[in-house]
Amino acid sequence: MDDADTQHIGLVGLGTMGAALALNMAEKGASVVVYNRSGDVTSTFMADAGALADRLTPADSPAALFAALAPPRAIVLMVTAGAAVDAVIEGLLPHLDRGDAIIDGGNADFHDTRRRESALAEKGIAFLGMGVSGGEEGARHGPSIMVGGSAGAYDRIAPVLEAIAARYKDDPCVAHLGSDGAGHFVKTVHNGIEYADMQLIAEIYGILRYGQGRGVDDIAELFEAWNFGPLQSYLVEITAKILRAVDPLTGGPVVDVIVDSAGQKGTGRWTLIEALRLGQSASTIEAAVGARSWSALRAARTAGAGLFPADGMRCHPLLDTDLEAAFLAARIVAYGQGFQLLRAASDEYGWNINQPRVAEIWRAGCIIRSALLDEIAHALRDDPPEGLVIFSPVLAARLTESLPALRRVASSALAGGLPAPALASALGYFDTMRTARGTTDLIQAQRDFFGAHGFERLDGGEGRHGPWHGPKAGA
Ligand code: 6PG
Repeated sequence: MDDADTQHIGLVGLGTMGAALALNMAEKGASVVVYNRSGDVTSTFMADAGALADRLTPADSPAALFAALAPPRAIVLMVTAGAAVDAVIEGLLPHLDRGDAIIDGGNADFHDTRRRESALAEKGIAFLGMGVSGGEEGARHGPSIMVGGSAGAYDRIAPVLEAIAARYKDDPCVAHLGSDGAGHFVKTVHNGIEYADMQLIAEIYGILRYGQGRGVDDIAELFEAWNFGPLQSYLVEITAKILRAVDPLTGGPVVDVIVDSAGQKGTGRWTLIEALRLGQSASTIEAAVGARSWSALRAARTAGAGLFPADGMRCHPLLDTDLEAAFLAARIVAYGQGFQLLRAASDEYGWNINQPRVAEIWRAGCIIRSALLDEIAHALRDDPPEGLVIFSPVLAARLTESLPALRRVASSALAGGLPAPALASALGYFDTMRTARGTTDLIQAQRDFFGAHGFERLDGGEGRHGPWHGPKAGA
C-alpha cells in the first residue's frame, strides 16, 4: 500500500463532508470501504457515486467494515464532533486490532482529541485528529488537511491524504503538525482566524453601506477589484459574489433579506478560551466571536436602537484605498494573533508545530486561503523578531504603510457610531505591541496598594512595595 492507487481505507459517516471526502479518495485511486449508521444513506451514496462506485465498497455493519479492510486498518471518522465521536469509537472498539488507526476528520475540540488519543494508545490503537478545511467543495475536490497524532500512523495514510489535498502550485496542502491534538488545534485556530476575517469584511461592508451610503453593487465591484491585490482571498471573492446575488422574491440583493444573526459551532470560542488560558489575547478573534454572540441578541438590539436612535449617522467620506489598506492591516494583525497563539500552544503541549508549514498548507483549499498566507509563510521561515510575524520585514513594511488608513477608518466608524469591534481591537493590539513602556506600571501600583502584590523596580533597586500607607510604626 505505497500510494493512493492501492490504498484501502475505511470511512464512517456519509454526511455532506464524509460523502465528499470518500468520493475524493476514490477519484484519486484509493479503495474506500464506507459505512454509515443508517443503511439508506449508504445506498443513496452508492447509487449517486457513478463510475467511482467501482472503488467504493459499502459495509452494512462495523463488522463488515472491518472484514473488508486488511490490518493494519485506517478508518476515517466523519461524524459530528462531540459525543457522537465517542459513541462511534465505542462501537468500533470490539473490532479494532493493535496497530489499527482511527482518524477523526471532524471539527473536534483538541482536548477531546488528546483524551481519545491517550485512551486508544493504551490499547495499541493509533488515533489521529485531522482538521479538514474547505467546506463540501474542498472535501470533494481538495481540502487543506491538518493532522496531529502518531507520526507512524500518519506516514501510512500520507499517500492518500496527499492525493486528495488541495495543491498550492505543486505542494499538497497537508501536514503532520505534532502529536495528539495538534492537528485539531491548528484547525481551531484556522477557524478563529476565519471568524476574524469574516467579521472584518462585514465591518468594512457596514462602513461602506451604512457609513458611506454606497450601493450593494458598488461594494461588490470594490471587493472584486480588491481580490486582484494584496487582499486576494477566497473570503473576499465569495463576498463579491454574495453581494451580486439577487433574491428571486424581492428582486433586491439577497443579503438584504437575511436575518443578521450568526450561529457558531464552537471553534471560534475554543480559540479564545485557549488563548486566554495560555495568557494570550487574540483580541481580533475575540471581537469576531463576541460580535456573533451579540448578533444573536436581536430583540435587545432592536430595543437599543429604539432607545438610542442612530439615524442619520454617517462616517465622513473615506477613500476606497483607505478601506482596502485598513482591512489589510487588520487582517495581518488577526493572522499574526493566530500564529502567536499557535506558538504558545505548541510550547505548552510540546507539539513543536512547524509554523511556516501551517501557513503553507493554508495557501490553498481552506476557507482562509489568501495571498497574504504566502507572505506569512516566507516571513515565518525567516524567523521574525520575537517570533512575531507582524515584526517580519515584509509584514512590518506592509503595516507601516497601511496602519494610518486603519486609524482613519476605525476612528471614522467610531465617531460615526458604527460598530467596528474587530477593526478597533486590531488597532489596540498593534499599538500595544509597539509601545515599549506602557501604563501597566500604574496597574502594578494599584495592585500593590490594595493587595500588597509587590512590583519590580525598573532600576533593579531594593523595595517591592510602594509607600502607600505612610511609614509603618517601627519600620
Ligand atoms: C472550514 C470551515 C468549516 C465550518 C466551521 C465553522 O474550514 O471548512 O471552518 O469547518 O465553516 O464549522 O462553522 P461555524 O461558523 O458554524 O462555527
